[in-house]
Amino acid sequence: MELKLDLEDPAGFAAVDPSDMLGAVERFGDQVREALSIGRSVADLPPAEGLHAVVVLGMGGSGISGDVVSVLAPPAGLRAPVVTVKGYSLPSWVDSSTLVFAVSYSGNTEETLDCFDQAAEAGARLVAVTSGGRLAELAGESGITTFRIPGGMQPRASLGYLFVPILCCLEGMGIVEGTTAALAGAAGMLDERSSEFGRDSGLDSNPTKRLAKDLAGYVPVIYGSEGPLSVAALRWKAQLNENAKVPAFHNSFPELNHNETVGWQNLEEFGSSCHLVVLRERGEHPRVEKRIDITLDLLSGSIGHTAQVCARGENPVERLLDLMYFGDFTSVYLALALGQDPTPVRRIEELKKRLAG
Ligand code: F6R
Repeated sequence: MELKLDLEDPAGFAAVDPSDMLGAVERFGDQVREALSIGRSVADLPPAEGLHAVVVLGMGGSGISGDVVSVLAPPAGLRAPVVTVKGYSLPSWVDSSTLVFAVSYSGNTEETLDCFDQAAEAGARLVAVTSGGRLAELAGESGITTFRIPGGMQPRASLGYLFVPILCCLEGMGIVEGTTAALAGAAGMLDERSSEFGRDSGLDSNPTKRLAKDLAGYVPVIYGSEGPLSVAALRWKAQLNENAKVPAFHNSFPELNHNETVGWQNLEEFGSSCHLVVLRERGEHPRVEKRIDITLDLLSGSIGHTAQVCARGENPVERLLDLMYFGDFTSVYLALALGQDPTPVRRIEELKKRLAG
């Protein structure tokens, strides 16, 4: 496909990306450092005694913070996992022994506000993570612990502000250990990746620009595997949708071997217009490794193109951030290559407006 913009020429980027989404992505390491200091500055944390479960409420770019936390920090002292709720219904087991984080960048997302009300009604221990809006008002009125994060950005470009305070809070309450130290180290790694993946790094040395070029004109299909890589796959899919404005789909090994692997057998034309990206990491489950090899062989005639991206990093925190960062850059370069401004998400805004009317 002929690209609308030359990815080798950063001087042309501002015309397509006037709000500088690429700059926001390039500065992600700084965002993680700032989010750590916001997260560590809040002292009035809820009590940890008798806590049985952690729930994160949030949608889209805010909701993925719950998925990230659930794979990075299953609280050591808790029997229950971190559960992310993306919708209008709070689980009926939420009560005063549940810690509930309401995460909404704008503070005005109706599903999150609805569940926040239900959680307050159920007597849960509440924490808000927001840049303002109704959620900040409600939290202020009821004296709820609030992590106030900077406004004026797109929620999906604020991932660090959204998930880091949750980990700081869990660590401050003594129910998670060591993740914020790992995050401080990961911020340095993100700076290195930013030089490698950033605008001034040409196609030869920049794998994210090369992949974006390859994805242009195709439907990206992103496969992860159970655990952190499935969250990375979800992030890739959402970033490709919202930044590049293309349809994109994700799934995870081993579950996809029990259904989707068969689904590629028909609709050859659709399959040939898809580009599969498999997210990998060293040390993955040996059976998953074998499954990926066999699956790629089985699908070889059914999908247009295939690429693999392997996580780098010293620990699970770094490997997850590394993979998500690769996808963030790729999605913005794909937007630029397609001549799409990566920032506006007009259909989400239109939908919210119509729902409010
Ligand atoms: C926009 C984005 C969306 C929003 C979602 C919820 O950049 O990522 O997915 O995150 O519509 O809105 P907030 O985050 O304001 O609660």
